[in-house]
Amino acid sequence: DTAFHYRGDTLYCEDVPLVDLVKEYQTPLYVYSANYIRNAYQKLKESFGGFPTKICYSLKSNPNIWIGKLLADLGAGADVTSGGELFRALKAGFNPEDIVFAGVGKSSREIVEALRSGVGLFSIESEQELRKISELAQSLNRVANISIRVNPNIDPHTHEKITTGLRSNKFGVPIEEALRVYQLACTLPAIRIVGIGMHIGSQLVNLDPVIQAANTILDMAEELINTGIRLEYIDIGGGFGIKYKDESPEDPEIVAKALERRLRDLKLKLIIEPGRFISGPSGALLTSVLYTKTSGGKKFVIVDAGMNALIRPALYDAYHHIQPLVRRDKTEIVDVVGPICESSDYLAKDRLLPQVFPTETIAILQAGAYGFAMASEYNSHPRPAEILVDGNKVRLIRKRQTYEDLIRLELEAEDL
Ligand code: LLP
Repeated sequence: DTAFHYRGDTLYCEDVPLVDLVKEYQTPLYVYSANYIRNAYQKLKESFGGFPTKICYSLKSNPNIWIGKLLADLGAGADVTSGGELFRALKAGFNPEDIVFAGVGKSSREIVEALRSGVGLFSIESEQELRKISELAQSLNRVANISIRVNPNIDPHTHEKITTGLRSNKFGVPIEEALRVYQLACTLPAIRIVGIGMHIGSQLVNLDPVIQAANTILDMAEELINTGIRLEYIDIGGGFGIKYKDESPEDPEIVAKALERRLRDLKLKLIIEPGRFISGPSGALLTSVLYTKTSGGKKFVIVDAGMNALIRPALYDAYHHIQPLVRRDKTEIVDVVGPICESSDYLAKDRLLPQVFPTETIAILQAGAYGFAMASEYNSHPRPAEILVDGNKVRLIRKRQTYEDLIRLELEAEDL
């Protein structure tokens, strides 16, 4: 089931030796396994197969249109959080009806684009947003299908920077206000209430908080139904965790099992918005060793990708497992650092790693989610290329940026 594995001494993605990809496409390079993505999607489909469920892949985790197409072809919907992601989702071939538009700060322009393209669901995060969507929908002679994202005030016990379901977070409508906002929605023109939603955080290894929050939301749904508001969907968001180090993430199936009976009773369809669970383990970032040096009793391995290519270690102290493309027996404790002029630019700290030398390449694993998606051009490093491996087939799904790409928009601005 794992996308990356050794055969003999050589690290492979599916049936492709990674050293071959490095020869052809250089580093830094993102590589994804198509079959991992398919399997993760199918696994969720089976887990949630007991009742009607829409799996809306969260584009923010990896927005490449070819990854999107892979999932759209399997019948997935999409969760988008900006006009740009909506644009990508449509290009990737997702059915607009199966697109959920979420996000705390949707601009008028983005709302109009979403209305024009016929997205299936707006996930509303504030009263003002609800009013704005109503006005814009009315002026376009359209009806907006909405659900209200309720903030259940439940601690998901994950990294504080990716917790979203606490009252102190900016997300959703506080649960105490939800009923009032629903009642308001009933009175607004061009608004059709179709659901209720939540998303409490990401990389949730323990899924009890999700079940607890979903039950709170279902209580709310029951209350709404009793007051005569018709609901079709409950959207429990994303957040299913993956194994980065030594976590043992709970199986999403327990959420399905825990909610099944109530969903049936209330005749609600489920929406889930998984991102990381599908894209995370599918991808690795390949980066080559430039130099090694010792300083202050520490050994540094300096590689050609840093926080510009993968910011998770610098931003969240995130752990990513590292394996050399050619197996090495001798180990040592090192910091793996990038070329960026920032002390926080590291990929691993005080890590016991196989000893590697300049020109060799290492793979930073579990980098398919929030890897390329959060990459930048900081220090004017062109963004990496991306490769999709499918069995023994190799496809370049995004070219490496060039220096010309770095300045193109600046040159065009001068022309105006
Ligand atoms: N739905 C909503 C409304 C979200 O805000 C998110 C993620 C998802 C779905 C997908 O969550 P997932 O299944 O991938 O956990 N950059 C951070 C993660 C930020 C997650 C933001 N929201 C990281 O690298 O860990």
